[in-house]
Amino acid sequence: MKAAVLNSCPGQLEIEDISIDSPGPREVLIETKAAGLCHSDLHFMEGLYPHPCPTVLGHESAGVVAEVGSDVHYVKPGDHVITCLSAFCGHCESCIGGRLSLCENKNTELVRSKDAPSRLSRNGEPVETFLHLSSFAEQMLIHENALVKIREEMPMDKAALIGCGVTTGLGAVFRTAKVEPGSTVAVIGCGGIGLSAIQGARIAGANKVIAVDRVTSKLELAQALGATHVVDASDGNAVEQVRELTEGHGVHYSFEAVGLKETAEQSFQMLRNGGQATVIGMIPVGTMVEVHGVDFLYEKTLTGSNMGSNQFRTDMPRFVEMYLDGRLMLDEMVSKTISLEQINEGFAEMKTGAVARSVIEF
Ligand SMILES: NC(=O)c1ccc[n+]([C@@H]2O[C@H](COP(=O)([O-])OP(=O)(O)OC[C@H]3O[C@@H](n4cnc5c(N)ncnc54)[C@H](O)[C@@H]3O)[C@@H](O)[C@H]2O)c1
Ligand SMILES: [Zn+2]
Ligand SMILES: [Zn+2]
Repeated sequence: MKAAVLNSCPGQLEIEDISIDSPGPREVLIETKAAGLCHSDLHFMEGLYPHPCPTVLGHESAGVVAEVGSDVHYVKPGDHVITCLSAFCGHCESCIGGRLSLCENKNTELVRSKDAPSRLSRNGEPVETFLHLSSFAEQMLIHENALVKIREEMPMDKAALIGCGVTTGLGAVFRTAKVEPGSTVAVIGCGGIGLSAIQGARIAGANKVIAVDRVTSKLELAQALGATHVVDASDGNAVEQVRELTEGHGVHYSFEAVGLKETAEQSFQMLRNGGQATVIGMIPVGTMVEVHGVDFLYEKTLTGSNMGSNQFRTDMPRFVEMYLDGRLMLDEMVSKTISLEQINEGFAEMKTGAVARSVIEF
C-alpha cells in the first residue's frame, strides 16, 4: 500500500510502497478514507518532538473497517469509524477514573510486543506505527480501543477532523476547562485546534469569545465560527488588546492553540482573577514556560490538555450529532482536500498559517 514515510527526523515525507500485516486478536484493519494534516505531525517532521524512524505519520482520520481480529466484537467489516490516538486499556487508574486520554498502559498493552512482527514493514524491515495510528496510508492496522463507530451519514472528510482537531478543541473547552455559560473566553491561534475551541466556547454559551491570530483570513473565519471579537496578534500587544475588550479584567478562560512559550505565557497573562489558562499547543521539548508567582495569589490556574481530556467513544459520536444537526460547523474548516502525493505541499502551506485544515482523501 501507499504511505507517507518519515525516514529521518527532521525530514520530509516520502510516498512509498510498504506492507501492512493482518489483524492480531484485538486489532482492526481499516481502509483509510480521509486524513487531516495536524500541526502535531509537523512538529515531529521538524524534529521538535522525537520519534523513531522510519515511521508513517498521521493521526486524524476516518475510514471503513476492512477486517477484524478474532477477539474483536465491537466493530465488523463495513462499519464506519473515526480513529483516535488516545487508545485506552480500560483498567488502569486513569481509565477507571474516566481520564482515558491519560491511560498508563497505552504504550505497553495496546502495541505489539517487540518480538512480534511489526504492524507495518518495508522490504521485511519494521516501520514504526505513529501514535497508535499512522493515518497517512491507504490502510491502518490499529488496536480496537483506538477507534469509535459512527453513523454512515457522516461525511468522511469531516469525520476525520473529529479524530484530533475537533475533539482536542471542543474537549479542552467542555472537559478540561468546563467553560460555563456567560463566561468570557480567549483563544490564541486559529488553526484546526483553535477554531474548534472557538466553536466549543460558542456551543457552551460563552458571552464573549475573543479570537487571537496573526492572519486576517483566520480571524474572519473565527468570526464565522463563533468568535464575538478578534485580536490581530501581529498588531500590538495581544494581552493588552484582550484586556481592553474585557473592561480591563481579562478573561475567565483562555486557550493556547499555537505551541509556543510566548503564547503560553500570554494565555496566563490575559486571565482575570480566578481564571484558568489551558495550554493545548505542543511546546517544543525542553522549553520552559514562565509566569509571575504573584498571580497565584489571585487564584489563577495554568494547566494543559491532552487531546481535550477526551472520552472519545462517548465524545466523538456526540460531535457527529452536533455536525449533522448544524451546530458544529466543519464544512468551513476543511480549507482544501488534497491527494497523498500533495502532503508536503500541504504542510508547507500550514507553516504560512493560511489554511484551517487540509484533508487527504484516499
Ligand atoms: N494537546 C493536544 O492534545 C494537541 C492535539 C492536537 C494538536 N495540538 C497542538 O495544537 C497546536 C495547534 O495545532 P493546529 O493544527 O491548529 O495548528 P495550525 O498550524 O493549523 O494553527 C496555528 C495557528 O496559530 C497562529 N499563530 C502562529 N503564531 C501565532 C502567534 N504568535 N500569535 C497568535 N497566533 C499565532 C497561526 O496563524 C495559525 O492560524 C499545535 O502545537 C499542535 O501540535 C495539541
Ligand atoms: Zn493532531
Ligand atoms: Zn488505561
